[in-house]
Amino acid sequence: MRIARDLPTLRAEAAKLGPIALVPTMGALHAGHISLVAAARREAAAMRGAVAASIFVNPLQFGPNEDLSRYPRDEAGDLAALEAAGCDLAWLPGVEAMYPPDRATAIEVEGPSAGWEGAARPGHFRGVATVCAKLFLQTGARVALFGEKDWQQLQVVRRMVADLDIPTRIIGCPTVREADGLAMSSRNRFLAPAERALAPRVHAALRDAAQGMAAGRPAAAALGDARAGLAAEGFVLDYLALVEPETLRETAALPGRLIVAARLGSVRLLDNIAA
Ligand code: PAF
Repeated sequence: MRIARDLPTLRAEAAKLGPIALVPTMGALHAGHISLVAAARREAAAMRGAVAASIFVNPLQFGPNEDLSRYPRDEAGDLAALEAAGCDLAWLPGVEAMYPPDRATAIEVEGPSAGWEGAARPGHFRGVATVCAKLFLQTGARVALFGEKDWQQLQVVRRMVADLDIPTRIIGCPTVREADGLAMSSRNRFLAPAERALAPRVHAALRDAAQGMAAGRPAAAALGDARAGLAAEGFVLDYLALVEPETLRETAALPGRLIVAARLGSVRLLDNIAA
C-alpha cells in the first residue's frame, strides 16, 4: 500500500493507479470501515482501478464543545487494517495542508442539512461537505463509498455532488452491526460496560417502531412508544423521527427512514433504518 501525506505525492501516486474508489474516514477503523474498503475493491475491480482511503480527523466538522481532542486516533493500527483489507493508497493529509490559514471557502449544503444532526451540531455539515469536496477533488475519485449509518451525511454528500456537478459517484453501504444490533462506530469504545449493554436498545426501538408501522400503526403512536421506551431506559433523545429518505423532511407516510440520535452518558449514538 502506498502512503501519501502531501498533495503532490497523492497526485503522483493516484495517477499511477487508474480510476479511484475512495473510502473517506476519520480513522479509528472498525469492521464497518473495512466493509467499505471491501465494497470499494469490487467497484475498483469493475473499473480496472484502485482503492484509496483517507484518514483525516476533520476539525471543521467538530463544534467548539465537541470531542475533537478525544477523538480516537490509531494511525499504525489503521494503516495495517487498510493494507490487510486490500487498500492500494492511504491519504493522510495534515491539518495545515488541508486548511491553510488564508483559506476562505467552505461549502454550505441547504435542504438535507437543515434539521436533526444539522440542528444539534451547527456547522457540522458545512465541515463534512467542505472536506468531502476537497477529498474528491484531491484524489480525483471516480466513486466514493459511505456507510448508511450516517444517513443524513450520506444525503448531504449526495446533494452536494449533484449540485456542484462533481464527477464522483456516491455509493451508500449498509450499516455494519455488532451481534446484538448496535451499529458499529468509532465512538462506541467510550461506552461504559453498563451503557454498552443498554446501547442495542436503540436499534431495537427503531425496529419495533418500523414493524409496528408496517403492520398499520400510525407513525405518531409508534414513534411515541419508541421515544418513551428509550427515555425510560435512561437515554436522552436528541431526536427520533420518521423522515423522507432523501430530503430528511419529517413525514408520517411510508416508505421513509427512521432516524435517531440518543445520548448515553457522554456518547451520542446515531442509528437509522428503512421504514
Ligand atoms: O463519516 C466520517 O467519518 C466523516 O464524516 C467523513 C465522511 C470522513 C468526513 O470527515
